[in-house]
Order: sequence, then structure tokens, then C-alpha cells
Amino acid sequence: MTYVAPGDPHELARSVRAGFADHYGREASVVGRAPGRVNLMGEHTDYNHGLVLPVALPHATYAAARLRDDPADGLVRVASAQQAEPWEGQLAAVGPGTVDGWAAYAAGMVWALHERGHEIPGVDLYVDSTVPLGAGLSSSAALECSVGVAVAVALGLPLTPELRRDLVSAGMAAETEIVGAPTGGMDQTIAMLGEAGAALVIDFDLPEDRGRSTQVRLGLARHSLLVTDTRVSHALVDGGYGQRRADCEEAAAVLGLSSLRDADLDAVARIADDRVRRRARHVVTEIARVRECVDALAAGDLDSLGRLFADSHLSMRDDFEISCPELDVAVAVAVEAGAVAARMTGGGFGGSSVAVVPDERVDAVARAIDAAFALEGFTPPGHLRAEPSPGAGLEG
Ligand code: GLA
Repeated sequence: MTYVAPGDPHELARSVRAGFADHYGREASVVGRAPGRVNLMGEHTDYNHGLVLPVALPHATYAAARLRDDPADGLVRVASAQQAEPWEGQLAAVGPGTVDGWAAYAAGMVWALHERGHEIPGVDLYVDSTVPLGAGLSSSAALECSVGVAVAVALGLPLTPELRRDLVSAGMAAETEIVGAPTGGMDQTIAMLGEAGAALVIDFDLPEDRGRSTQVRLGLARHSLLVTDTRVSHALVDGGYGQRRADCEEAAAVLGLSSLRDADLDAVARIADDRVRRRARHVVTEIARVRECVDALAAGDLDSLGRLFADSHLSMRDDFEISCPELDVAVAVAVEAGAVAARMTGGGFGGSSVAVVPDERVDAVARAIDAAFALEGFTPPGHLRAEPSPGAGLEG
């Protein structure tokens, strides 16, 4: 059993600078870093104007950047240590649906900054990442936000709290408008605003790109967060995520509400359509679980935490229908092997689980999941230790 290493930030910054220099034959002027995330509670609640409770991972994406010398050139070039195909194109030509694949997140972020009134003469970018791709750990927001930080700082903007907020909404615009993934704002918010040693409770009651966030210190003495990547691929641009969002909108409309945030469970129980009723029930109960989870974490109340994680997983499996056999096995086996709490995390349809495990049981739990996956004939999973880490910044 092995853990995916987050890597040393200084080393990674050095290596992304070297990759930039190799690729473009000149030096980068800045390196931005932005983390992946694991969500502890509140799935598919962000776009319903509810609450979420993510932590930033130590695993991050590093983006080396240098503005183009000729202010009139307008060229954007992106390359990645993880991707065979670099991309280049004119900034003026970037728009919804014009860039395919991974490069859309990076080019989309440059586009979003330009849309927000920043004069960009063109830019070269080279990225490297230790966030597992397609694992439901928000590698996309890490890419967007690392590029956003690098380009903004290359433009001479100081990384103030206001700029961090702007980069959250720029990242959301890149993802929803250029990539075409109808996601909420959790991933960009935690990537930009995460704090070492803490989770963030983010309230999306306000317009989505202005989610209010408050730190929650994790009262989890002698316990660790173990993340298991099932290696079942997940892509938010596929239909399932958008369908869930449409179901939620339908439920809100049936109830005569603008969102499910304040929906009442008795009213939800009267929704005639079975599928729509179950989707709404997940969202309403999940928002309540975020509030309870905040209290349980603050109090170090592991029994409540275990119950909340278990209820959340069942709600996602049965009502929201976004789990899969690999996630169900990872969660059940984690608890059998000594985790105090476990649930699937992220958008679903594959991706990762998260478990709260006594420090001395972490290796045993990971090994038990490996053994169960082998027995079931599943692809071997990957594991990460999720030490709550700081949000985006400059590196090296
Ligand atoms: C993805 C989206 C988020 C959120 C989660 C589910 O990560 O990007 O906005 O909706 O799924 O909680």
C-alpha cells in the first residue's frame, strides 16, 4: 500500500520552472500554487445555495508563467508535465467551446481575467501537479487557481483578499463558461481561501461567487484524514452532474422556491415525482448535516461525526444516486477496519472517499481497502493523507 505524495513545494516550484525553461527556452517570472481539496460534508449543496465543508490538500498544482514581451501579440501558450499535447491560441479567440480538454481550464482562466478588465499581452504557462487527475479532488480548480495566481502576480497585482475573491469567481467563469462544466463554487473557494489545519465552512446563500467562509479548526486529535481514490474516472462535463443540478432546480420550482436552501422536509416529502423528491431530500438533509458536522468537529465528537458521515453516504447512494460499487466498498471497509467516519466525497460517479481514522490505524485501513478491492477485482485504489493545508499562493 502506498500514499500519493504531495511533494515538497520548493522542489516542485524548482521543477516547474525547469520545465518552463526547457519548453519555452526562457525563464518563468513567477510560480503560482493552488491545492486540490477534499470535502468533509455538503455534496451538491453549493449550487443549491447551501453549505459545504472542504479542506485544502497538501497536493497542489504549480503554474510557472511569463507574460509575452510584445504587448500586441495576444498569444496564450500552455503546456503541462502531465499532458502530451501543449496548446496555443490567440486570447481574443478563446470563448465557450473553443478550447478542448485540459487546456480549457488554463486558457479559460486567462480569458476570465481578461474579461474582468485585466490587460494581458499574452502569456506562456507551464504546469505540473501532484493532485490526482479525475479523482474528485478538484484538480480542475487547482489548475485554474494556480494559473490565476501566476498570471495575476505576473501582471503586478498584489495577492490581496479581494484578488483572492476575484480569482474564485474567475475560476468559476472559466469552468462553467469555457469548459462547460456546470459546477458550483466550492472547489475554487477552498483552493483560494483554504487554511492550514482547518476546514472552511462556506455558505453559498449569497450570490454563488461570493460564498461567505469561516474557518473551522479540526478538533481531531490523534486522527487523520485518509482519502482513497477509487480510480473510477469521473468527468463533470459528462451528463450526470448536470442532470442532478437540473433535478434540484425542478424540485425548487415545484416548491415555489428560488433554491433548495430553505426548503422544508415536510414540503419535500409531498413532491410527487419520486426521483425529484429524493434529490431534494438529499440536498436538504445534507445542508443540515454540514451544520451538525461543524459542531461535531469543534467538539471533537467522533460518534456524531461517524453517524453524520454514514448518513451522508447513504443519502448520496440512495437518494442522489451518485455513488458506485467501488465507493461503497471503500467506505464500508474503512469503517470495518477502524475508521471512525467514512463517506464518498466530491461530485460522485467515481472519484474518492474520505475517512477519519485514528493515526495508528491509517495504514491498516488503507491495506484493508486494497485487499477488498483485489477481492472484488477492482482496479487498485490510490491513497492520500489529507493534512489540511493552506490555499493558493506564490511559490519559490
Ligand atoms: C464538484 C463541483 C462542486 C460541487 C461538488 C459536489 O466538485 O465542482 O462545485 O458541486 O462537485 O459537492
